[in-house]
Amino acid sequence: GPVTRFEAEAGTMSGGGTIDTNHAGYSGTGFVNGANAVGSHVEWKVDAAGGPVRVSFGYANGSTASRPVDLSVNGTVVATGVLFPGTGAWTNWSTVTQALTLTAGTNTIRLTATSADGPANLDYLDV
Ligand code: GCU
Repeated sequence: GPVTRFEAEAGTMSGGGTIDTNHAGYSGTGFVNGANAVGSHVEWKVDAAGGPVRVSFGYANGSTASRPVDLSVNGTVVATGVLFPGTGAWTNWSTVTQALTLTAGTNTIRLTATSADGPANLDYLDV
């Protein structure tokens, strides 16, 4: 079906993160530079009809180390250690795709960093 884009800068993040615009190529008006810490998170509220979906996270990681996160839906971790590999530069944007099951109505989708590097720079969530 049609893809709905949820910009990261329209979501919420844990303390220390910022909405930045200094690395070109992002969608919307900016991207989320999450705090470089374990537990740093970025979250979206997504209205859905319910059922299985494939979602894609737009991101950039200009470092050489993957930035792992745990992925939760409505407070339940549904995938651990999801890797956001290096993209070669902070201006190179890529996607990570995951299969999820959403409930009918509003869903909370959260990425929580599990390394001290925090999450990659996050641009959007496509559902
Ligand atoms: C650099 C980069 C940021 C990025 C950060 C990081 O400072 O400019 O956009 O978020 O590295 O390592 O997380």
